[in-house]
Amino acid sequence: MGLGVGLIGSGYMGKCHALAWTSVATVFPDVKRPRLVALADATTELAQRQAQAFGFGRGTEDWRDLVADPAIDVISIAAPNQFHAEMAVAALEAGKHVWCEKPMATSLEDATRMRDAAKHSGRTAILGYNYIQNPMIRHARTLITEGRIGIVNHIRLEMDEDFMADPSEPFYWKSEKRSGYGALDDFAVHPLSLLAVLHGRITSVVADMARPYPERPTMDGGHRPVENHDIAQALFRTDTGASGVLMVNRSAWGRKGRIALQIFGSKGSILFDQERMNELQIYSTDDAAALQGYRTILAAPSHTPYRQFIPAPGHGLGFNELKVIECHELLQAISGNQDAHVIDFERGLELERVVHATARSAESWKWVEL
Ligand SMILES: NC(=O)c1ccc[n+]([C@@H]2O[C@H](COP(=O)([O-])OP(=O)(O)OC[C@H]3O[C@@H](n4cnc5c(N)ncnc54)[C@H](O)[C@@H]3O)[C@@H](O)[C@H]2O)c1
Repeated sequence: MGLGVGLIGSGYMGKCHALAWTSVATVFPDVKRPRLVALADATTELAQRQAQAFGFGRGTEDWRDLVADPAIDVISIAAPNQFHAEMAVAALEAGKHVWCEKPMATSLEDATRMRDAAKHSGRTAILGYNYIQNPMIRHARTLITEGRIGIVNHIRLEMDEDFMADPSEPFYWKSEKRSGYGALDDFAVHPLSLLAVLHGRITSVVADMARPYPERPTMDGGHRPVENHDIAQALFRTDTGASGVLMVNRSAWGRKGRIALQIFGSKGSILFDQERMNELQIYSTDDAAALQGYRTILAAPSHTPYRQFIPAPGHGLGFNELKVIECHELLQAISGNQDAHVIDFERGLELERVVHATARSAESWKWVEL
């Protein structure tokens, strides 16, 4: 019998976790099929409906029921940001493993408490940085490590979507201060997670944040001030001596799921865009002068773990499949595999430090050292 699973939150990401838990053992035969024990959501009616739809044994409106349930070994946290710390710490203290959605927490103190709880519990605790699981990102890491683009000297990181681009879009929890800084910890953490697995650590940052729409309509016909920032940008330096730019915008009309990376080195460059997530582009001065130009590599079985899903090259994986890979890496980490490809709470806290340093810099308009 596989591990018992509890899921908190059954919205966009909750469904994504449920899909991953449901299919992980089908895709990866080296893990045992998890047992979907219980699901918690804001109301009993919603929790029971979603438990039935997702194949969980029961639904409850009290997430603490899951924490107290001895049949549950691991808890997925896919509730809004402001609940992550309380839920993760309680789960870890009860001896559960934790798979928590990003951002880790809305304050550095809470993120630190989560890291400490994970350390003391000895349980596995990871964050939902699914984009690092893309086989093309793993391939980019291999190419950089092999020196295919030489010594990395400049990095551009972007994440843009347009789900908050319409000023008439009603106010909801993502615009509340208690959900975090806005685009910075909603979005920036994703390209920062990619940088963390691809190249170096950020050591200093100078930033600016912007609020394109100061207020939004409410469902009752009124207006409410927007409490955080939908746009953020920063310059940074890494411990490897590279300079970089980070630009994130969740009100960028036309951008649907763009996470764009440009990594420049002394003998080439690598480009990636999540909107074309099954492609990687590389330019290398190793190519003969007459052949120089960007080469597009299509995802294929040679890019681990693509083969687990599809034996044919160029057919492509999707967003939800990254979560299945992440679920597999979580199970590897739980079983003691030190090489599991995850961002645990220790590494997650490093990313949070960058986020908070960036916000401090945006307030002071000064470089901040990490
Ligand atoms: N990894 C990614 O790519 C990615 C993408 C989107 C969202 N997220 C993260 O996932 C989390 C959830 O975001 P979402 O887009 O799924 O939100 P959502 O609004 O679609 O879903 C949130 C769910 O949590 C439930 N909920 C609210 N309060 C609760 C409580 N006290 N107890 C139990 N359930 C509660 C809501 O009813 C809802 O079902 C956020 O932290 C977000 O940042 C991650």
